[in-house]
Amino acid sequence: MKYSTLLFAVTATALVAPEQVTILDEQQPAVSDVIQAWWDSTLSRSTKLFTSLEKRITDSIRSFDASSYGFDSDDHPHPPRRGHGGHHRGDKTKTIYELIKSNQYTTQFASLLDNDDFSEIKKLLDSTEHNKTLFVPTDKAFERIPHHGDKPPPKEFVLALLKYHISPGLHTAHDLITSHTLPSNLSLDTLGSHPQRLRISTGLLFTIRVNIISKIVYSNIEAKNGIIHAIDHVLVPPPSQEKIISLLPTTFSTFSLGLEKTELSVPDHKGGTLFAPTNSAWRRLGPRANAFLFSPRGLKYLKALLKYHFVVDQTLYSDAFYGEKKDEQGVEGGKYWHVDLATLLDDKAIAVDVKRWRGWVTIVLNGFTKVIFQDGIASDGVVQVIGKILIPPHEHHGGHGAEDDDKDIDVEDLKARLERYVEKGNEAGDL
Ligand SMILES: *[C@@H]1O[C@H](CO)[C@@H](O)[C@H](O)[C@H]1NC(C)=O
Ligand SMILES: *[C@@H]1O[C@H](CO)[C@@H](O)[C@H](O)[C@H]1NC(C)=O
Repeated sequence: MKYSTLLFAVTATALVAPEQVTILDEQQPAVSDVIQAWWDSTLSRSTKLFTSLEKRITDSIRSFDASSYGFDSDDHPHPPRRGHGGHHRGDKTKTIYELIKSNQYTTQFASLLDNDDFSEIKKLLDSTEHNKTLFVPTDKAFERIPHHGDKPPPKEFVLALLKYHISPGLHTAHDLITSHTLPSNLSLDTLGSHPQRLRISTGLLFTIRVNIISKIVYSNIEAKNGIIHAIDHVLVPPPSQEKIISLLPTTFSTFSLGLEKTELSVPDHKGGTLFAPTNSAWRRLGPRANAFLFSPRGLKYLKALLKYHFVVDQTLYSDAFYGEKKDEQGVEGGKYWHVDLATLLDDKAIAVDVKRWRGWVTIVLNGFTKVIFQDGIASDGVVQVIGKILIPPHEHHGGHGAEDDDKDIDVEDLKARLERYVEKGNEAGDL
């Protein structure tokens, strides 16, 4: 069975009636494909969820671009202060499972746990062997799942979704305010054996959101084996980097166009870091450079330039790194951290500096380019959004000189810096 025939719809009842799932007789698609199919299906039919997702991302990028720090944004981490503290709720004589089971606002999640197909999740949430944190969607959250069609999602999808709501260890709301990403209990082949992560952000009035749209509506419910936070939207495991880019044309249409025109194909990878330039980043290069890069003559240079934005097999989040740490330099307490990440451009590396100050993290590339939207979680890695195009430095200058912000780049300079990486065998004009 082709995976496209698996395009299914999710409804609240479908999620709670998974016994109707058709068992596939032929080869099972990878869980990551099933998740991708969910996004394809949902986004092509329901725009409401997507509009709010896109709005949050573009607002955040815009406010960062404006302030260059983004401290006022509703989607940037704030340093720890009061809020979400004090009151302890819950019942430390009961397990997470028992608390969910007896709570009148979490009946949908509880009924999933009581389904035989998902008994491993019930066991996990009932076991006192390890502490864990559960982000439990309220019954209202289940109602918000886009409603279309009535085919229930495959069991694998629901299982992955449940795992994605659990994070190992205890994370109180206070801890979350200074967190950027957290590992979940879900691991997929697309990220190697590493756990899929959850993006945490704190906004005004200490609103904490998980993966951009799921807001914590009730926090710090303590259990014998961990802690529970209630959320207002279900956490669906993320789509691929490529999908994320194609879904956000307001931000990435120029980048997408470049990928399409150059037919750049990203090799199979287990995780990866995509430094994705916004449309404003392209504009900042100036009209001449854009006209050149997107002309038939310039496409091979454009391809080289695009390759310089892709790192495969190494995934750099603002507070975690899945990859080889051979170039790593750290400083005690994790306040400063450096790594060189080889790109698809002949392994030419990008120098990454991660600086931590209280709850804030800045990621700076090649000494001057800041990541303006951090930790766009993808099934196959992470999307770090940048407001400037990364250009390989001049060979003979060594190091990474500062770029002049306000000046358009000279086309000859751009060509000189990319010349040695341009694919040979194509005469100018051939493309
Ligand atoms: C879980 O957390 C509690 C409270 O911090 C601690 O007392 C207990 O030892 C932890 N249990 C395990 C299994 O780590
Ligand atoms: C999920 O939790 C179980 C039980 O704690 C653990 O054995 C497993 O390794 C976890 N998986 C991931 C990907 O964290």
